[in-house]
Amino acid sequence: MIPVSNILRLRVAEVIEETADAHSIVFDLTPEQRAALAYRPGQFLTLRVPSEQCGSVARCYSLSSSPFTGDAPQVTVKRTDGGYASHWICDNVRPGSEIEVLAPSGVFSPASLDTDLLLVAAGSGITPVMSIVKSALAQGSGQVVLVYANRDERSVIFGHDLRALAEKHPDRLTLIHWLESVQGLPSTEQLRTLLRPFTGHEAFVCGPPPFMTAATTALKALDVPRSRIRREKFVSLGGNPFETATITPAKEDTGSAGGHEEQPATVRVELDGERHELAWPRRSKLLDLLLERGLDAPFSCREGQCSACACRITSGEVKMLHNEVLEAEDIDEGIVLACQSVPLTDEVSVSYE
Ligand SMILES: Cc1cc2nc3c(=O)[nH]c(=O)nc-3n(C[C@H](O)[C@H](O)[C@H](O)COP(=O)(O)OP(=O)(O)OC[C@H]3O[C@@H](n4cnc5c(N)ncnc54)[C@H](O)[C@@H]3O)c2cc1C
Ligand code: FES
Repeated sequence: MIPVSNILRLRVAEVIEETADAHSIVFDLTPEQRAALAYRPGQFLTLRVPSEQCGSVARCYSLSSSPFTGDAPQVTVKRTDGGYASHWICDNVRPGSEIEVLAPSGVFSPASLDTDLLLVAAGSGITPVMSIVKSALAQGSGQVVLVYANRDERSVIFGHDLRALAEKHPDRLTLIHWLESVQGLPSTEQLRTLLRPFTGHEAFVCGPPPFMTAATTALKALDVPRSRIRREKFVSLGGNPFETATITPAKEDTGSAGGHEEQPATVRVELDGERHELAWPRRSKLLDLLLERGLDAPFSCREGQCSACACRITSGEVKMLHNEVLEAEDIDEGIVLACQSVPLTDEVSVSYE
């Protein structure tokens, strides 16, 4: 099963009704949990949501709080039409409830808070973006532009907080609201016009799939290189790391055939400030190997869907067996999913820093 240190049982301090269908869940952490829950703006937690049918389901929710403002960590959950977990959370979670979560993870986070940022969000896509806005304003020095689309005024999550931030940082935060009820659905062409003045910024896009496609197409048409466009896709995990995360034993290579294929590779891993060198059986996935060896490597879905296990290959090569979340540009930068990676070269170096 998952190493116990990977699951945190958090107490809910407060539930904030942000809009009629979006609730923020604020956590009350013990000092030990605070260290384990250290996160970067834009990262997410994986929550275990009870289910009478199957024990539980796992769902990712981005942290909408900032690690730099002294506020308690919180996630913000918006009801999905016909969805299970989002309704369960909004209907059942109360102050004093306890929720099991996996440690923060994800790669939707600015490399530097000092760069100029163009944040393009729609609906619940504001959640990780809110964390980035607050963090950049509190800790960084660049310009922050937020383009935020919603169905109507009542569905704007964090409207009040954003107004307060814009008043406090008039020289740094540009806030552009788009309301479908007034302006219609934003088209690629309209987004192109809106985003044109900010093409030198680092772009972050999060929202429903059609919105993300329109925003990304607009940015590409404005010649923003893909390496400067990060996207977070909100999908429901197919698997459940809480229920089924037995660790697949890393297959020992016998070497009996004497062939190159049977010799394990060697992997050097930098994780939590420590270095490890391990024999890596060629048919084992990197995450399976690390967990089996007792290392606290991050993960959530273990199916190539969430990016929680993303790490960087600093030398050597791996092959990803499945990938639904990293884009070609991420892979060009050396980012891979540990839960789907097997070695291609005899020596591989990996960094989680
Ligand atoms: C990295 C990441 C961060 C995220 N952050 C947030 C966040 O901050 N806030 C937020 O609100 N959400 C976030 N999400 C989305 C969240 O994880 C869930 O996907 C979302 O809450 C919907 O879950 P659900 O259980 O309510 O819906 P589900 O039950 O998963 O249903 C989702 C959709 O699938 C349909 N569906 C369900 N079951 C079936 C079926 N058997 N056959 C066909 N269709 C079906 C439903 O009708 C619904 O339209 C994030 C996702 C990821 C991956
Ligand atoms: S753990 Fe989700 S992609 Fe690897």
